[in-house]
Amino acid sequence: MSDATAGGETPRGIGRGLTDYGDPAFSLFIRGAYARGAGLTREDLARPIIGIAQTWSEFNPCHRHLREVAEAVKRGVLQAGGLPLEFPTISLGEIYLSPTSMLFRNLMAMDTEEMILGQPMDGVVLLGGCDKTLPAQLMGAASADRPAIVVTAGPMLTGRFEGTRLGACTDCRRVWSEHRAGALDAARLEAVQGELFPSTGTCMVMGTASTMAAIAEALGMTLPGMAAVPAPLAGRLRLAEAAGRRIVEMVQDDLRPSKILTRAAFENAVRVLMAVGGSTNAVVHLPAIAGRAGVALDLDDFNRAARTTPLVANLRPSGAYHMEDLAEAGGIPAVLRVLRPLLRLEALTVLGRTLGATLELVPEPGSWQDVIAPLDRPLRPEGGLAILRGSLAPDGAVLKVSAAAPALLQHRGPACVFRNLADLQVRVDDPALPVTPDSVLVLQNAGPVGGPGMPEAGSLPIPRKLLAAGVRDMVRISDARMSGTAGGTVVLHVAPEAAVGGPLALVQDGDEIVLDAGARRLDLLVPEAELARRRAAWRRPARSLARGYRRLYVDHVLQAPQGCDFDFLCAPR
Ligand code: FES
Repeated sequence: MSDATAGGETPRGIGRGLTDYGDPAFSLFIRGAYARGAGLTREDLARPIIGIAQTWSEFNPCHRHLREVAEAVKRGVLQAGGLPLEFPTISLGEIYLSPTSMLFRNLMAMDTEEMILGQPMDGVVLLGGCDKTLPAQLMGAASADRPAIVVTAGPMLTGRFEGTRLGACTDCRRVWSEHRAGALDAARLEAVQGELFPSTGTCMVMGTASTMAAIAEALGMTLPGMAAVPAPLAGRLRLAEAAGRRIVEMVQDDLRPSKILTRAAFENAVRVLMAVGGSTNAVVHLPAIAGRAGVALDLDDFNRAARTTPLVANLRPSGAYHMEDLAEAGGIPAVLRVLRPLLRLEALTVLGRTLGATLELVPEPGSWQDVIAPLDRPLRPEGGLAILRGSLAPDGAVLKVSAAAPALLQHRGPACVFRNLADLQVRVDDPALPVTPDSVLVLQNAGPVGGPGMPEAGSLPIPRKLLAAGVRDMVRISDARMSGTAGGTVVLHVAPEAAVGGPLALVQDGDEIVLDAGARRLDLLVPEAELARRRAAWRRPARSLARGYRRLYVDHVLQAPQGCDFDFLCAPR
């Protein structure tokens, strides 16, 4: 790649990163010709160029308003003297992707990074929201390290059915479970299906999309208040316009992600994750983003924060309210204000100010205490997530304590093992399945390599015969992930995963398993000699991924505690 100028001066705008034709002056000439052919003037081309990474797609209904959002961003860029140029990247619609959107997060991160670096832009506005899109964009932006600001899609408004508010997809799972149990007939199921997604935007509970939006804000990568304002509201367009103005100033100040994504910022993000009862998926995404920024962030950081950060946000699936309620209560700035004594206030944000200075502008807690509890009267004294270790998960596992049945947080029971997802689908409702309410359901080979892509299959369905008997939660263990909108006593991300020979691969029907969430333990009560015998007999599952991206994925994906990034994409430390 050539530059437009010689002599050490960094090229800007249209002269950045010229196409290699062996003659940089010609490359600049022909690029200018095409730009002017697109109707741009010499004056336009003298401005800082702001890329707008667009993830609108008809395969991603959560993003269907992003073309209007992009127009608002462009107004702001033009007001501040920049030239906005919108470009497409991969968009990951959670519900439309097979086998799982997680398989493509790293592909989108590579796309985002390379398009930021490969095209002549001085700064970038990232439009994202649905689950894996924000992590991918933050990973790509951290690696590209060009001034960047995130504009999230924003949450949907809540739906209504028979007088009850609906929150996707916590209620998708609830009504499906009721249907499986025979308590909701097909006609009512179809009626509720039409009400679960009443507007554009991302899932409106504290699922993965809302969690990652809150985290993007806590990291300092968005304007204050960005995470919670509902997608259809005018306030979101005003925030998008303001982000357009701000990115031009960030370019002038050379305020890059490497100045924002520091260890302090990640500590703040983990605090917020715990305080809002956020998605377990963040325990995978945050180490991946940190890895791109060259910041060490491991599972012990999450456990330390969990022990010392109270749960203050009363949001589903852990609590009672939805994102529109959080917005009314002041959004993530209000949560940060409550958490202030626990935060690293010196962290810099996209405003070019410290978090502490930013929070000076946030009003004192007022009437919002149903949605955001004060620090001295929290909903739970500890955060919503726990990192478990033990003989079944030597490298760690994750449990969303705030969404689990308290009676199951200390539990001992016999394993009922499914070898993979196909085995689960065939046998889980078999009347002859050897399972009781005390059993521990175990799913093997659904991790990063085994899935592949670590599907959101960790919330194993309760066997139909137990559902009919009134059972609504059981201890479930796997190397898979779980949707942030789901709940239950579900142990996830067991590492090392079964497909690379972790102890999870050695579990057999009837083995005793002990979960002790208080002690942060997960143990398999099988004598070491027997485990050694099973280990010697274990064979890596056969796979037929001979070519293409999926081959690249299984050959290079890291385990869950390292964020499932590709080994060759992490920043050198
Ligand atoms: Fe897109 Fe939930 S499916 S955010």
